[in-house]
Amino acid sequence: MIKKCLFPAAGYGTRFLPVTKAMPKEMLPILTKPLIQYGVEEAVEAGMDTMAIITGRGKRAIEDHFDISYELEHQIKGSSKEHLLTEIRDLIGKCTFTYTRQVEMKGLGDAILKGNALIGSEPFAVVLADDLCINQNGEGVLSQMVKLYDKYKCSIVAIMEVPKEETYKYGVIEGKEIEEGVYMISNMVEKPEPQDAPSNLAIIGRYILSDDIFEVIKDTKPGKNGELQITDALMNLAQKGMVLAYRFKGERFDCGSVDGYVEATNYLYDLEKGGK
Ligand code: G1P
Repeated sequence: MIKKCLFPAAGYGTRFLPVTKAMPKEMLPILTKPLIQYGVEEAVEAGMDTMAIITGRGKRAIEDHFDISYELEHQIKGSSKEHLLTEIRDLIGKCTFTYTRQVEMKGLGDAILKGNALIGSEPFAVVLADDLCINQNGEGVLSQMVKLYDKYKCSIVAIMEVPKEETYKYGVIEGKEIEEGVYMISNMVEKPEPQDAPSNLAIIGRYILSDDIFEVIKDTKPGKNGELQITDALMNLAQKGMVLAYRFKGERFDCGSVDGYVEATNYLYDLEKGGK
């Protein structure tokens, strides 16, 4: 059973400056909820109850969001606005939040390694909150991946097809399709130029990792941009055993870019209006 979900949330969010100068990018709203709340909801839906968040300086708003604000609760009690807090209150009631800081930005692999203190030795999920995933008519991406983990018991990355000219933005995999949408990985490259990309199957910000990943990260050398890349660590793991890639069902929005952020906002706005 996968009970813990890790959220690397220490990055600066420079693509959203100046709004991210004093506010964590994970707290950017899509309609009335911050990005990270969508990720936590997806994890809870997949049966997880412990949210392990890797923060950094200037990220206090995340901790405050997943806590009670007594002053606000007092002010709003009995008013017509009280129902607006119901959803977040319920969510807080369903899980425990744990935190540790990544002191220096040394890459996603390093951020995940910092999570070892919060995860211990058990398989866990990873959500990059700026990849917002919605599967309107079915289960969320993490639920889909947990089912796959139950079957194969190995690390899994979520993938999607991207236009070949965009491979430089992603980790890209190569592998053999062993069942529909499931690939056994033989190669992974972090952010290759299109001419060097082994395919157009790009990793998105959802992972299920077996706990042996921590030892493998420790033995992985810094890669692209001098940072410790989880893609490289997973490639090392794939050489020792099996790592799968899963073409998920649903929509994914790159909310780390202004275009993707606006698209996600419009998509959810239309869903909400359409649903009324
Ligand atoms: C990270 C990973 C990359 C992955 C991407 C998905 O990159 O390093 O392999 O494809 O997330 O969003 P980042 O977008 O943080 O630069």
